[in-house]
Amino acid sequence: MKLPPPPPHVELDLTPIPPAASPALVVLVSRTSAGEAARPDGLSERTLAQLHAATADGEFDARPGQLLLLHGTTSDGIRRTLLVGIGTGSTLAPETLRRAAAQATRRLRQAGIGDWHLRLPANLPASCPPDIAAQAITEGILLAGYAFTAYRSGADQARAAPLGAVTLWASDAAQAAAWRRGVVRGQTVGDAAWLARDLCHLPGNALTPQRFAEVALDIAQTSGLRAEVLATEELARLGMGGLLGVAAGSRDGPRLAILEHAPPGTERQRPIVLVGKTVTFDSGGISLKAALDMEQMKADMTGGAAVLAAMRAAARTGLPRRVVALLAIVENMPDASAMRPGDILRMASGATVEVLNTDAEGRLILADALHYARRFEPACVIDIATLTGASAVVFGSAFNALFSSAPAYAARMEQAGALSGERLWPMPLAQAYAERLHSEVADLRNVAGPQGAMLVAAAFLQQFAAGMPWLHLDIYNTCWNTEAHPYLPKGATGAGTRLLTQFLLDLPADDPAGP
Ligand code: BES
Ligand code: MN
Ligand code: ZN
Repeated sequence: MKLPPPPPHVELDLTPIPPAASPALVVLVSRTSAGEAARPDGLSERTLAQLHAATADGEFDARPGQLLLLHGTTSDGIRRTLLVGIGTGSTLAPETLRRAAAQATRRLRQAGIGDWHLRLPANLPASCPPDIAAQAITEGILLAGYAFTAYRSGADQARAAPLGAVTLWASDAAQAAAWRRGVVRGQTVGDAAWLARDLCHLPGNALTPQRFAEVALDIAQTSGLRAEVLATEELARLGMGGLLGVAAGSRDGPRLAILEHAPPGTERQRPIVLVGKTVTFDSGGISLKAALDMEQMKADMTGGAAVLAAMRAAARTGLPRRVVALLAIVENMPDASAMRPGDILRMASGATVEVLNTDAEGRLILADALHYARRFEPACVIDIATLTGASAVVFGSAFNALFSSAPAYAARMEQAGALSGERLWPMPLAQAYAERLHSEVADLRNVAGPQGAMLVAAAFLQQFAAGMPWLHLDIYNTCWNTEAHPYLPKGATGAGTRLLTQFLLDLPADDPAGP
């Protein structure tokens, strides 16, 4: 199993002359206060006349997401012009640009066009400065241009034109540095999302726990992260009953992968510790899941994929901040040696857990990884997990749940959510939920019925994160897309990747100082 190739690079062209002989030029068109399409700059006279006609005929008023594909070579040698509405310019949000760029990408891919240009918009409002705009547009292109084709052969592979050479064109040289910064940032995020989505799509028979650990080591080595993988023997020595218990029914043993990014001068910082649920396949174990949609459970390692991809981004960009990643890697399968409902596990923390449902496995492996995080004396430990079906009941897919015992980091994470488009909503941690986890025979039980199940799961993890500044992200509800969205194609979304990458890249270098 080889990882699929990364996305192509989105290029930036800062010359005032229109691109020569391009198959297509995408132009983002805003809407005037009179509700009409504004006249964008950089268009040929003929294209402007066509836009005017389309506006007069009531076919195009530049509302967000509206598309108008114009054919006919302009005097500049541009064969097609794709106009994309972005709505009222004065209230423009990065998310609108991300979606507009994504819609253009999808439209051109359907038309068999992979190489094209996009005109970066001029006169951006304060709500969307050039660096943030260029990042959002680059992300939209890369996210919408993703396809998992590793297992499709021959002609069938090319169901749509693959993303080719895309160039962003801006003649506003005064903003050159900001445009460049944004494109580079957008590429970093896009690269991370492609990696995470590939990992999520790779099936459970290819990306086994052993293979996932190897991939993590490979990525660490090529990007300059320190890395170590603990396997069964070492995990037993550490008393990690959660990891061992969940993995007991699998042919593969459990792994704990530890990656560290600590550039010179940061070695003594208290690190951010990222903990990812990395269940390569969740069958439910003896508490077996129903057959319908079970294949999606190959994406039950989305949290781990997001952490790995964000770590690679931190290393590649030389983030001036110490970050540690812990990937709790297992497969949850039923067989004669699998853990049973009623089994009692002793966790690394010493606490005992009565397993009433073997399908509530994520919290068991995260409990051991959270305990392991203590040795790093984290500035903040952040776990991310496809943890509960209840997250989908609560939120659908418009938000992810954020639980927090670290208000300053929670605020940063919410800000990263707003910028990345992976929005978060704060959820309560309360004694009332923790109490539901009392067991008759052990310190804790791992489930407590359907009511408030997302909050009870968080309360379970909270016991193992006690005393550490901690954030918990439940991302089950956004990990898999059954309907196409502008920049989230059907299938694995790579949920949490853009969020964590944005969060890390926006961390201040000097917070907190020293050990
Ligand atoms: N990885 C799953 C999340 C999930 C939930 C997948 C629902 C598909 C459907 C997680 O491990 C899980 O199985 N959670 C269960 C826990 C329950 C048995 C207490 C859930 O939320 O339904
Ligand atoms: Mn499960
Ligand atoms: Zn699971």
